[in-house]
Amino acid sequence: MSEIPPIPSQNDARPSVQIDGVSKSFSGVTALEPVSLKIRKGEFLTLLGPSGCGKTTLLNLIAGFLEADSGELFINSELVTQVPPHQREIGIVFQNYALFPHMSVAQNVAYGLRTRRVPKAEIAERVRETLALVKLEDFADRRPRQLSGGQQQRVALARALVIRPRVLLLDEPFSALDRNLRTAMQVELKEIQSRLGLTTVFVTHDQSEALSMSDRIAVMSRGRIRQIGSPTEIYDSPQNHFVSTFVGDANLFSATLVETDGKKVSLNVGETRLPLTTYQDELPAAGPVTLFVRPEQCRLSAAGQDGAIPATVALSVYQGSYAEMHLDCPTAEGGRVMLRVPAAEALPVGTAVSIALPEQGPAIYAKEEAAA
Ligand SMILES: Nc1ncnc2c1ncn2[C@@H]1O[C@H](COP(=O)(O)OP(=O)(O)O)[C@@H](O)[C@H]1O
Ligand SMILES: [Mg+2]
Repeated sequence: MSEIPPIPSQNDARPSVQIDGVSKSFSGVTALEPVSLKIRKGEFLTLLGPSGCGKTTLLNLIAGFLEADSGELFINSELVTQVPPHQREIGIVFQNYALFPHMSVAQNVAYGLRTRRVPKAEIAERVRETLALVKLEDFADRRPRQLSGGQQQRVALARALVIRPRVLLLDEPFSALDRNLRTAMQVELKEIQSRLGLTTVFVTHDQSEALSMSDRIAVMSRGRIRQIGSPTEIYDSPQNHFVSTFVGDANLFSATLVETDGKKVSLNVGETRLPLTTYQDELPAAGPVTLFVRPEQCRLSAAGQDGAIPATVALSVYQGSYAEMHLDCPTAEGGRVMLRVPAAEALPVGTAVSIALPEQGPAIYAKEEAAA
């Protein structure tokens, strides 16, 4: 009986996918700046970013559907820049399933093995075990249109897995599914992926999907990777304005950086002088900057408190166990700050307050437009 591919050694240091300075433009318009990236064997790496930032372009370059303008691509140390897609041994799942409507589920899954001239008996066995892996063993003879969206996406996943790919690529695979089904499919994919130890590149524009599934996240905007790191690194220590706002909730203040001493900084937010210690290794030059704090790091205190930022309650949104307080704040970028308090501590609209920041934890970024 044939077996699911063995779990690769977790301490194999060679990257599974290596991208060296790969770039792409379409009719002179840059879709992807030169990108370099190493994806470890068995790693679940997510490309996260807004629509149009180059995620699909990068995925299609890895798959070989697009030819790079510059750079080199390696899979398991083999140079594949000039290798056609079907010889790269990559499994791909798209958002729209792309199943063959006239074929049964089993025939859809068998397709990649037939084109690879695998013997019939082995095809039958591998299709059977792969359908079992995605829990569709009872649906082998159905047509795609007789299946729900979630089931169709499992067929697409089985079709990608059956060839025993060296790398699995998924482009927004669950974005057409409703929320509950999406969560269920996320859990299932993660289980299958870690059981098989399969190197996976997953594309999404959904930050919570990225945070919950990934070993590492590459946050992209405008054809560039803006930060790459574990979900905790990305959430706790965003390195720039874009990442801080794209992942999680951010409060941003317009500030003036007065002086720096290593990670210790002194800055002005309006009339308020703040001494802070950041987690950053690199700080922008003195002058106008953006001060970043997560809502959970901000505390509400009485109006006029020394070293805290003046604000006024604009709206309080009851959320059951807590209330979301939206504050008008003249020194905040966009004029608003949000923080959460226990529901019983919500303050009436119009109350003058001040916002106290922790001395450890905020970050200071060079000014940047709200980028897409
Ligand atoms: N085949 C193409 N021809 C022209 N422009 C393209 C093509 N594919 C992508 N683009 C452009 O490249 C940029 C990145 O697109 P894409 O990689 O699809 O982004 P994402 O997947 O992050 O939404 C966009 O500006 C898009 O319009
Ligand atoms: Mg896309």
